[in-house]
Amino acid sequence: PLLDRLFNAGETEVALAKKLGIERTLIVPGNADLQDRVFEEMGEELSSALNLLLPLGHSIVTLLGGTSLAKSARYLSPGLGNNRQLEFVPGRGALGENVETQSNTIVQEMAAKTSGTYKTLYLPEQVSDDAYKSLIRESSIADVLQDISQSDAVIHGIGLAQEMARRRGYNSIKLSELREKKAVTECFGCFFDENGKVVDRIAQVGLQFENLYKIPHIFAFACGARKAKAIKAYMPNAPHQTWLITDEGASNMILKGK
Ligand code: G3H
Repeated sequence: PLLDRLFNAGETEVALAKKLGIERTLIVPGNADLQDRVFEEMGEELSSALNLLLPLGHSIVTLLGGTSLAKSARYLSPGLGNNRQLEFVPGRGALGENVETQSNTIVQEMAAKTSGTYKTLYLPEQVSDDAYKSLIRESSIADVLQDISQSDAVIHGIGLAQEMARRRGYNSIKLSELREKKAVTECFGCFFDENGKVVDRIAQVGLQFENLYKIPHIFAFACGARKAKAIKAYMPNAPHQTWLITDEGASNMILKGK
């Protein structure tokens, strides 16, 4: 029945995908701001979508971190690993963030769930230009970067700009600069305003936003009414092959145009 559901998008899912200019949306009932069980259904939907789209055999899945993905990772189905050797890799360094929501932790959880393997990237999220240039030549780091570039799928969250900046320890000057630039959302180290324009950027080792369009399958994973404006602001930049996994809380707000 889940496979059936994936082939047959509901009317609202079609309307939302059209409005956001992406291939597909999957909307689970409820509003994650009020109901934690939404993350369970989000995880199950992600699992079914991966099962439908990932090739059999060896497959690389790159994960960005975040609380939403961390809460849903345990709901991946062990069956996803049947006839697949799944390799999970972090999309960027994330040291300094809460360890539970780091991609380094989530890759381990997803690998354990699906009898897969994982690699880690224990690096600060933000690095200087000089450090960046030498780090990407380190063989252990180059190896992970190579896998990222060959990903079959990328799964990423969509953050609210101010919240993400605070989580990364920005001081009040940096925070007000971001406010002046009208940053609404953050994804892949880029801050976007409400029109989807990049207004600020963090130098990160890992998946670069410019290379995202080369990845065959992209899952944006964001839910809750409070995330509606962040989802809307990011989506003009999303490659068309993006599937948004979300809930009614966010989707109703986006479709109402609020
Ligand atoms: O880059 C965006 C963040 O990963 C979003 O994370 O699910 O914790 O809001 P979140």
